[in-house]
Amino acid sequence: MWKNALCLLVTFICFLRGSTLSQKLCPPRPDEDLIFRATFAHDRFYVDVEHGNDNWNGRISFPADGEGPFKTLSGAIDGIRKSRTSVRKRATLFVRSGNYFVSKPIVLDARDKYLSLVGYPGDERPLLSGAHKISGKNFEPFNQNVFVASINGKCSNHIFLGRKRLVRARKPNLRRWTGQDMTGQGPYLKIKHMFHNSFGCNRKGSGGFRQEECHWGNKNGFEFKKGDIDHKWSNPETGNILVFHAWTAERGNIKSVVGNHVNFTSSLRSPIGNHPKPSGWRYIIEHIFEELDTTGEYFCDEKRKLLFIIPPSEALKHEDVFISSTRTLFIVQNTKGIEFVDLEFRHSNDRAKVKYNPRPALLEFNKADVASIYHCAFSNVGHTAIFLYNSSTNVKIAGNSFYNIGYIAISTSSGTRNLLIRRNTFEGCGVWNMFQPSCIHVRGMKKIIVKENRISYTPYAGMRIGSQQTFKQDYVREGEYVFYIEKNDVRNYGLGILNDFGGIYLSPNVACSGPEATSTFCHLHARVAFNTIHHSSAYYYGAHGIYGDLAVSSLTVEKNWLYNLDGAAVVFLCGKRNFALNNMIYHIDKSRVLGTCSVIAGRGVLLKQDLTFKKNVIFVSNVYARMWRPLDEWIYDVPQVDGNVYYFSHENSSQVFDFFPKYKSWNEWKSSTFNDLRSVIDNPQYWNLAGKDYRLKRTSVARQIGIQSVDLRKVRSRSGIC
Ligand SMILES: *[C@@H]1O[C@H](CO)[C@@H](O)[C@H](O)[C@H]1NC(C)=O
Ligand SMILES: *[C@@H]1O[C@H](CO)[C@@H](O)[C@H](O)[C@H]1NC(C)=O
Ligand SMILES: *[C@@H]1O[C@H](CO)[C@@H](O)[C@H](O)[C@H]1NC(C)=O
Repeated sequence: MWKNALCLLVTFICFLRGSTLSQKLCPPRPDEDLIFRATFAHDRFYVDVEHGNDNWNGRISFPADGEGPFKTLSGAIDGIRKSRTSVRKRATLFVRSGNYFVSKPIVLDARDKYLSLVGYPGDERPLLSGAHKISGKNFEPFNQNVFVASINGKCSNHIFLGRKRLVRARKPNLRRWTGQDMTGQGPYLKIKHMFHNSFGCNRKGSGGFRQEECHWGNKNGFEFKKGDIDHKWSNPETGNILVFHAWTAERGNIKSVVGNHVNFTSSLRSPIGNHPKPSGWRYIIEHIFEELDTTGEYFCDEKRKLLFIIPPSEALKHEDVFISSTRTLFIVQNTKGIEFVDLEFRHSNDRAKVKYNPRPALLEFNKADVASIYHCAFSNVGHTAIFLYNSSTNVKIAGNSFYNIGYIAISTSSGTRNLLIRRNTFEGCGVWNMFQPSCIHVRGMKKIIVKENRISYTPYAGMRIGSQQTFKQDYVREGEYVFYIEKNDVRNYGLGILNDFGGIYLSPNVACSGPEATSTFCHLHARVAFNTIHHSSAYYYGAHGIYGDLAVSSLTVEKNWLYNLDGAAVVFLCGKRNFALNNMIYHIDKSRVLGTCSVIAGRGVLLKQDLTFKKNVIFVSNVYARMWRPLDEWIYDVPQVDGNVYYFSHENSSQVFDFFPKYKSWNEWKSSTFNDLRSVIDNPQYWNLAGKDYRLKRTSVARQIGIQSVDLRKVRSRSGIC
């Protein structure tokens, strides 16, 4: 009955209801009935790029009797402003399938209160793109492999062939182009010499890990190995050099190549040479015409307005090329109740020299209240996909997918309150910008909830929390937090590209480092629980599980599964009131299991720390692993370590004699610190090691000493939306 009434109202939809949708579509289209029922009482409008007209009133979904849907999104927004009955009543703009190219940001403000933009149920999900499209058929053969087309607008660092990201002509070439590649991916070239060597900073890399006092002149270029950079390149200044440091990689624009020196037009942020081993002295040359030599590469000639590409054979017959050009598609500002539902967003551009700046973002929320982004698909994004700033509140981002994101998929600024990021799938972040990239970076001041997301495929962290002004210890009540990070699955991060990060990486601001750091205001108040974090890899060091950097304090890390990591399970670099409780750890790496305070955080001075590491199960399968490593220290307060189960799974029993902190044996450790008095060394009996099932068997000794079995199989298999 109800359904029939609805069908009378929107007859056309009932025809479409039967149409089959691709099973692979992610996120799946929401329940159509639900959408219509939900919008029953709304002011409804329609936009149809193929059949619409901005002079129509937009009140019906298909053209009839001289009326019909709007044609463009901006036309629709203008039209709705004129004809909506009230901004207090919700209006829904149904977006019919088609490609909506947005060439400048559409601003939604107070006039657009309570407006929902919804992909029309039953249709294919509409595409909202910031690209210039060039039809594949417009390309002409340039030589045997290379095709060329002229372009209208500017070049971009983000160009796609169909859904695949093209790579700027690089040296060395990728081993094999997939269209989902990280720009930071090897193989690499190696820097031969630094411009300025000193005793404390030289190419030999005294100290290996880090050398101080590198001359600023090393920000301006370097000396390369003969032949690596070619003097015959006609226009070397079209190129970039991607230089790797420890936890960042950045691009220098080539100014000149003289002799064996390459000089940059402007200085890098960090000098070459600071981190010899973690950088590996790696670099990649990008965007040189003469290096356009393999499938998947492009070169864009800004002066002559020509785009050269090497497509897979025949691809241009059925694929188009998209040049990302619009930086921001929507800005939602000073308004309330905006919703984006069931739309597909692609092809935003970035800006030169953005470094750590999260802007531009494809969707920006400036001082927005009560907004939601639901069941949308974001992909092929140049920089950030969604950025909330200027105290945006009550925002919900749920059930979306994010693929191939240039920098960060979701970023929020520190004034954010009441944010929910739930059940999204992220695959491929930090594809282009490597200033400590991650899929999610939340900053905020109240109730920031990140749960049930699936995050994978980043060259650095899975998600970042903080890097902001932190709080006093009593900022929240006992048992409450600012950040709730729960039931997320974070996997395949690091990818052997950068160093020093965590699947979940929590940090304060720099005021919480250095000798003056005081942890009275370094409390982040985060609970990190029931997450599965696994399969990480660093280039040289530090693909940790959960990582609290500097003196970040008031972290509770509990009941997570942490396994197959290329680094420590948990690191509390320094800080106070940090707890790791009841985590299930399967440690395969040669390095330490638990990271503690070190003079690095205090820049030479050891800060005070208190941490509690209790009721954890530490199953160690690597004979070289230790609980601790020499750089980690404490001189004031010994950590509280107790109620744990340790187990060493190999035959070689030497480890147990020096596994414990400061290379102590089990007995020495216990008797000298009174730690681990209730802990045991025994097989914890994980349910199924090969199946990576870290529940505890009934007979497990861990259960006997009060450790709870944690079942996170569903977190691992069902997180995300895809
Ligand atoms: C390149 O930089 C080095 C070191 O700063 C400087 O000595 C040299 O003159 C520069 N070369 C050019 C061609 O600018
Ligand atoms: C925040 O809002 C102010 C005006 O209230 C504006 O000047 C500023 O640019 C905004 N911040 C950002 C990051 O845009
Ligand atoms: C046992 O492991 C240690 C490392 O913990 C190693 O140095 C030693 O050679 C190993 N012994 C045997 C017999 O394999």
